[in-house]
Amino acid sequence: MRKIILLTFGFLLLIVVGGLVFLKTSAGGFSARADPTFPEIFAARTARSLAMPSNARERINPVNKTTVLDEAMEHWADHCAVCHGNDGAGQVQMGRQMYPHAPDMRKEPTQTLTDGELFYIIENGIRLSGMPAWGGSKVGEQASWKLVHFIRHLPDLSADEIAQMEKLNPKSPDEIEQEKEEEQFLNGDAPPEAHTQHKH
Ligand code: HEC
Repeated sequence: MRKIILLTFGFLLLIVVGGLVFLKTSAGGFSARADPTFPEIFAARTARSLAMPSNARERINPVNKTTVLDEAMEHWADHCAVCHGNDGAGQVQMGRQMYPHAPDMRKEPTQTLTDGELFYIIENGIRLSGMPAWGGSKVGEQASWKLVHFIRHLPDLSADEIAQMEKLNPKSPDEIEQEKEEEQFLNGDAPPEAHTQHKH
Protein backbone atom coordinates (compact mmCIF):
# COMPACT_ATOMS: atom_id res chain seq x y z
CA MET A 1 0.00 0.00 0.00
CA ARG A 2 2.79 2.37 1.01
CA LYS A 3 4.52 1.64 -2.27
CA ILE A 4 1.38 2.46 -4.28
CA ILE A 5 1.03 5.80 -2.50
CA LEU A 6 4.70 6.57 -3.10
CA LEU A 7 4.42 5.56 -6.75
CA THR A 8 1.34 7.75 -7.25
CA PHE A 9 3.13 10.61 -5.55
CA GLY A 10 6.22 10.04 -7.73
CA PHE A 11 4.22 10.13 -10.96
CA LEU A 12 2.21 13.17 -9.86
CA LEU A 13 5.49 14.89 -9.09
CA LEU A 14 6.76 13.90 -12.52
CA ILE A 15 3.68 15.38 -14.21
CA VAL A 16 3.90 18.64 -12.25
CA VAL A 17 7.63 19.03 -12.78
CA GLY A 18 7.27 17.88 -16.41
CA GLY A 19 4.61 20.56 -16.94
CA LEU A 20 6.81 23.26 -15.44
CA VAL A 21 9.76 22.12 -17.50
CA PHE A 22 7.59 22.12 -20.63
CA LEU A 23 6.51 25.69 -19.97
CA LYS A 24 10.11 26.69 -19.44
CA THR A 25 11.49 24.88 -22.47
CA SER A 26 8.65 25.81 -24.79
CA ALA A 27 9.63 29.40 -24.15
CA GLY A 28 13.32 28.78 -24.82
CA GLY A 29 13.21 25.86 -27.29
CA PHE A 30 14.02 22.25 -26.44
CA SER A 31 17.43 21.11 -27.47
CA ALA A 32 18.80 17.73 -26.42
CA ARG A 33 22.16 19.50 -26.09
CA ALA A 34 20.98 21.38 -22.98
CA ASP A 35 21.84 19.92 -19.58
CA PRO A 36 18.79 18.52 -17.72
CA THR A 37 17.77 20.81 -14.85
CA PHE A 38 17.95 19.67 -11.23
CA PRO A 39 14.13 19.20 -10.87
CA GLU A 40 14.11 17.08 -14.04
CA ILE A 41 16.95 14.86 -12.80
CA PHE A 42 15.35 14.58 -9.37
CA ALA A 43 11.89 13.72 -10.75
CA ALA A 44 13.23 11.20 -13.26
CA ARG A 45 15.50 9.41 -10.77
CA THR A 46 12.84 9.40 -8.02
CA ALA A 47 10.19 7.97 -10.35
CA ARG A 48 12.68 5.36 -11.57
CA SER A 49 13.68 4.36 -8.08
CA LEU A 50 10.04 4.05 -6.98
CA ALA A 51 9.15 1.99 -10.03
CA MET A 52 12.06 -0.45 -9.49
CA PRO A 53 10.63 -3.77 -8.19
CA SER A 54 12.06 -4.42 -4.71
CA ASN A 55 12.97 -8.04 -5.48
CA ALA A 56 14.99 -6.76 -8.48
CA ARG A 57 16.84 -4.32 -6.23
CA GLU A 58 17.91 -7.05 -3.82
CA ARG A 59 19.19 -9.64 -6.32
CA ILE A 60 22.75 -10.82 -5.75
CA ASN A 61 25.20 -11.07 -8.66
CA PRO A 62 25.48 -14.85 -9.33
CA VAL A 63 28.61 -14.50 -11.49
CA ASN A 64 32.12 -14.67 -10.05
CA LYS A 65 33.92 -11.38 -10.73
CA THR A 66 37.49 -12.62 -11.09
CA THR A 67 36.80 -14.72 -14.18
CA VAL A 68 34.69 -12.37 -16.26
CA LEU A 69 36.18 -8.89 -16.40
CA ASP A 70 37.95 -9.31 -19.78
CA GLU A 71 34.82 -10.70 -21.37
CA ALA A 72 32.64 -7.93 -19.95
CA MET A 73 35.15 -5.30 -21.06
CA GLU A 74 34.96 -6.61 -24.62
CA HIS A 75 31.16 -6.57 -24.48
CA TRP A 76 31.15 -3.00 -23.14
CA ALA A 77 33.58 -1.80 -25.83
CA ASP A 78 31.38 -3.35 -28.52
CA HIS A 79 27.85 -2.51 -27.31
CA CYS A 80 27.93 0.21 -24.66
CA ALA A 81 30.91 2.49 -25.38
CA VAL A 82 29.19 4.16 -28.34
CA CYS A 83 27.00 6.04 -25.81
CA HIS A 84 28.86 5.60 -22.50
CA GLY A 85 32.50 5.87 -23.67
CA ASN A 86 35.12 3.22 -22.92
CA ASP A 87 35.74 4.83 -19.53
CA GLY A 88 32.01 5.12 -18.68
CA ALA A 89 32.19 8.92 -18.42
CA GLY A 90 29.63 9.43 -21.21
CA GLN A 91 31.82 12.05 -22.89
CA VAL A 92 31.23 10.76 -26.41
CA GLN A 93 29.16 12.36 -29.15
CA MET A 94 26.16 10.01 -28.87
CA GLY A 95 26.00 10.09 -25.08
CA ARG A 96 26.36 13.87 -24.90
CA GLN A 97 23.66 14.47 -27.49
CA MET A 98 20.96 12.46 -25.76
CA TYR A 99 18.49 13.90 -23.29
CA PRO A 100 19.09 12.90 -20.54
CA HIS A 101 22.81 12.60 -21.39
CA ALA A 102 24.57 9.33 -20.66
CA PRO A 103 25.77 9.84 -17.06
CA ASP A 104 29.32 9.57 -15.71
CA MET A 105 28.95 6.02 -14.44
CA ARG A 106 32.18 6.17 -12.40
CA LYS A 107 30.40 8.56 -10.04
CA GLU A 108 28.23 8.05 -6.98
CA PRO A 109 24.72 8.21 -8.44
CA THR A 110 25.52 5.10 -10.52
CA GLN A 111 27.93 3.38 -8.14
CA THR A 112 25.46 3.59 -5.23
CA LEU A 113 22.81 1.66 -7.20
CA THR A 114 22.68 -1.98 -6.08
CA ASP A 115 23.97 -4.77 -8.34
CA GLY A 116 20.32 -5.81 -8.78
CA GLU A 117 19.33 -2.30 -9.92
CA LEU A 118 22.17 -2.10 -12.45
CA PHE A 119 21.19 -5.56 -13.76
CA TYR A 120 17.52 -4.56 -14.02
CA ILE A 121 18.43 -1.41 -15.97
CA ILE A 122 20.70 -3.31 -18.38
CA GLU A 123 18.02 -5.95 -18.99
CA ASN A 124 15.04 -3.58 -19.24
CA GLY A 125 16.46 -0.24 -20.37
CA ILE A 126 15.09 3.09 -19.14
CA ARG A 127 11.86 4.47 -20.56
CA LEU A 128 11.86 7.94 -22.10
CA SER A 129 15.64 7.86 -22.41
CA GLY A 130 18.16 6.58 -24.95
CA MET A 131 19.05 3.57 -22.78
CA PRO A 132 17.97 0.40 -24.66
CA ALA A 133 16.81 -2.88 -23.05
CA TRP A 134 19.44 -5.56 -23.67
CA GLY A 135 17.77 -8.50 -21.93
CA GLY A 136 15.50 -11.23 -23.14
CA SER A 137 17.49 -14.47 -23.18
CA LYS A 138 19.07 -16.75 -20.56
CA VAL A 139 22.52 -16.27 -22.10
CA GLY A 140 21.86 -12.53 -22.03
CA GLU A 141 21.23 -12.64 -18.27
CA GLN A 142 24.75 -13.95 -17.61
CA ALA A 143 26.19 -11.29 -19.92
CA SER A 144 24.29 -8.55 -18.06
CA TRP A 145 25.56 -9.74 -14.66
CA LYS A 146 29.10 -9.67 -16.08
CA LEU A 147 28.52 -6.09 -17.23
CA VAL A 148 27.45 -5.22 -13.68
CA HIS A 149 30.95 -6.32 -12.52
CA PHE A 150 32.48 -4.20 -15.25
CA ILE A 151 30.46 -1.12 -14.17
CA ARG A 152 31.84 -1.58 -10.64
CA HIS A 153 35.34 -1.69 -12.13
CA LEU A 154 34.89 1.59 -14.11
CA PRO A 155 36.34 3.89 -11.40
CA ASP A 156 39.56 1.80 -11.41
CA LEU A 157 39.95 1.36 -15.16
CA SER A 158 43.62 1.69 -16.24
CA ALA A 159 44.99 3.50 -19.32
CA ASP A 160 46.13 0.10 -20.63
CA GLU A 161 42.61 -1.30 -20.37
CA ILE A 162 41.19 1.73 -22.20
CA ALA A 163 43.78 1.30 -24.98
CA GLN A 164 42.79 -2.36 -25.24
CA MET A 165 39.12 -1.39 -25.54
CA GLU A 166 39.80 1.15 -28.28
CA LYS A 167 40.85 -1.76 -30.48
CA LEU A 168 37.53 -3.47 -29.78
CA ASN A 169 35.21 -0.50 -30.48
CA PRO A 170 32.97 -0.93 -33.54
CA LYS A 171 34.42 0.74 -36.61
CA SER A 172 32.68 2.57 -39.44
CA PRO A 173 33.32 1.43 -43.06
CA ASP A 174 35.44 4.60 -43.51
CA GLU A 175 37.65 3.71 -40.54
CA ILE A 176 38.08 0.13 -41.79
CA GLU A 177 39.06 1.46 -45.23
CA GLN A 178 41.53 3.92 -43.71
CA GLU A 179 43.14 1.19 -41.58
CA LYS A 180 43.48 -1.01 -44.67
CA GLU A 181 45.17 1.81 -46.57
CA GLU A 182 47.53 2.51 -43.69
CA GLU A 183 48.48 -1.15 -43.49
CA GLN A 184 49.08 -1.31 -47.25
CA PHE A 185 51.14 1.86 -47.04
CA LEU A 186 53.28 0.47 -44.22
CA ASN A 187 53.80 -2.73 -46.23
CA GLY A 188 54.92 -0.62 -49.18
CA ASP A 189 51.97 -1.83 -51.31
CA ALA A 190 50.51 1.57 -52.11
CA PRO A 191 52.11 4.86 -53.23
CA PRO A 192 52.40 7.40 -50.36
CA GLU A 193 50.27 9.92 -52.39
CA ALA A 194 47.26 7.58 -52.10
CA HIS A 195 47.59 7.76 -48.33
CA THR A 196 48.15 11.49 -47.99
CA GLN A 197 45.34 12.32 -50.40
CA HIS A 198 42.78 10.47 -48.31
CA LYS A 199 40.29 12.95 -46.93
CA HIS A 200 38.09 12.74 -43.83
C1 HEC B 1 22.09 4.32 -27.55
C2 HEC B 1 22.80 4.79 -26.38
C3 HEC B 1 23.09 3.82 -25.26
C4 HEC B 1 23.66 2.58 -25.35
C5 HEC B 1 24.16 1.86 -26.60
C6 HEC B 1 23.77 2.09 -23.99
N1 HEC B 1 23.27 3.01 -23.10
FE1 HEC B 1 23.16 2.82 -21.08
N2 HEC B 1 22.30 4.65 -20.93
C7 HEC B 1 22.09 5.52 -21.99
C8 HEC B 1 21.53 6.76 -21.49
C9 HEC B 1 21.15 7.98 -22.32
C10 HEC B 1 21.42 6.60 -20.09
C11 HEC B 1 20.85 7.63 -19.09
C12 HEC B 1 19.39 7.40 -18.89
C13 HEC B 1 18.80 8.22 -17.75
O1 HEC B 1 19.50 9.02 -17.15
O2 HEC B 1 17.62 8.02 -17.46
C14 HEC B 1 21.91 5.27 -19.78
C15 HEC B 1 21.93 4.74 -18.49
C16 HEC B 1 22.50 3.52 -18.19
C17 HEC B 1 22.56 2.99 -16.84
C18 HEC B 1 22.02 3.66 -15.59
C19 HEC B 1 23.06 4.55 -14.97
C20 HEC B 1 22.53 5.52 -13.97
O3 HEC B 1 23.25 5.93 -13.06
O4 HEC B 1 21.38 5.92 -14.09
C21 HEC B 1 23.20 1.77 -16.91
C22 HEC B 1 23.51 0.83 -15.77
C23 HEC B 1 23.54 1.57 -18.32
N3 HEC B 1 23.08 2.64 -19.05
C24 HEC B 1 24.21 0.45 -18.79
C25 HEC B 1 24.47 0.23 -20.14
C26 HEC B 1 25.13 -0.97 -20.65
C27 HEC B 1 25.72 -2.07 -19.80
C28 HEC B 1 25.14 -0.86 -22.02
C29 HEC B 1 25.66 -1.86 -23.03
C30 HEC B 1 25.15 -3.21 -22.97
C31 HEC B 1 24.49 0.40 -22.36
N4 HEC B 1 24.11 1.03 -21.20
C32 HEC B 1 24.32 0.86 -23.65
C33 HEC B 1 22.33 5.27 -23.33
C34 HEC B 1 22.86 4.09 -23.84
